[in-house]
Amino acid sequence: MSTAGYLDESREKVDQALNALMPREGSHPERLVSAMRHSLFAGGKRIRPILVLAAAAAAGGKDNFALQPACAVELVHTYSLIHDDLPAMDDDDFRRGRPTCHRAFDEGTAILAGDALLTMAFDLLSVENKGEGEGIEAHLRLRMVQELARAAGWRGMVGGQQVDMDSEGTEPDLPTLEYIHTHKTGALIRCSLLLGGLAANADETTLRALASFGEKVGLAFQVVDDILDVIATTEEMGKDQGSDAERGKITYPGLFGLEGARERAFKLVDDAKAVMDGVDSTGRLAEIADYVLLRRL
Ligand code: IPE
Ligand code: IPE
Ligand code: MG
Ligand code: MG
Ligand code: MG
Repeated sequence: MSTAGYLDESREKVDQALNALMPREGSHPERLVSAMRHSLFAGGKRIRPILVLAAAAAAGGKDNFALQPACAVELVHTYSLIHDDLPAMDDDDFRRGRPTCHRAFDEGTAILAGDALLTMAFDLLSVENKGEGEGIEAHLRLRMVQELARAAGWRGMVGGQQVDMDSEGTEPDLPTLEYIHTHKTGALIRCSLLLGGLAANADETTLRALASFGEKVGLAFQVVDDILDVIATTEEMGKDQGSDAERGKITYPGLFGLEGARERAFKLVDDAKAVMDGVDSTGRLAEIADYVLLRRL
């Protein structure tokens, strides 16, 4: 199957699974549920859950086991976007091709919709998989809970968001920029690969390789996001273009120029693919890295 076909098929699987676990529109409290669904079912690319599925396949696991952690990661990611867009943070109006959650609803509801999605992710990881087979063993689910909590928390995404915010309007320096990018974005992507590996009960060597691939792809992902914020259109991205410049964010193009940032992204993807050489016999992870990251540069 082509990479584009694989991505479409996987996105479909993830969307179906998310739909099955989310409260229906009209459920009480209606406004909260509606806000959660507004942001979750708004045309996200589902890259992180797809990486969970592809990592599980690379480690020889079953897809249906990996769907549970895949959905958990997407719930955390969607929460992070809702809060990232708030007036107190990036103050953006447009996300995933729709008005941002606080624009469509109100700030209080957006904060709570984010909180609800975040906590739901851990609920989901703690539930025994009722799919085919025997599901993911309890000790592996416990480790997933820990990995996801750490990736999302103060040493991970939230920490990166704090430094991102504190650095607005300051002179960029490479250590700070790398800290921001590896934490606000890299941590959750690294975690996606790890959760896929854990769902497949991969050995420690494979888990280390997946984590290393995830670190490189995760950093590359934010480098590309910074580039697109400069060169793409609001329509293409489904979110406000030029938001970084407007907020005085420190970014890769800001520090290295567009060409320098592009070179960095290409090098990171090359290094990531090298890590998967001989580890991922499906070859999917390398394909996804190329397709998702470099195609749009
Ligand atoms: C956007 O992530 C936020 C970043 C961490 C760069 P995505 O580009 O994966 O956004 P969606 O999920 O497709 O909306
Ligand atoms: C996103 O960084 C990091 C998150 C944790 C959401 P950005 O602020 O660059 O993401 P976009 O460009 O708004 O999607
Ligand atoms: Mg931000
Ligand atoms: Mg933002
Ligand atoms: Mg951005």
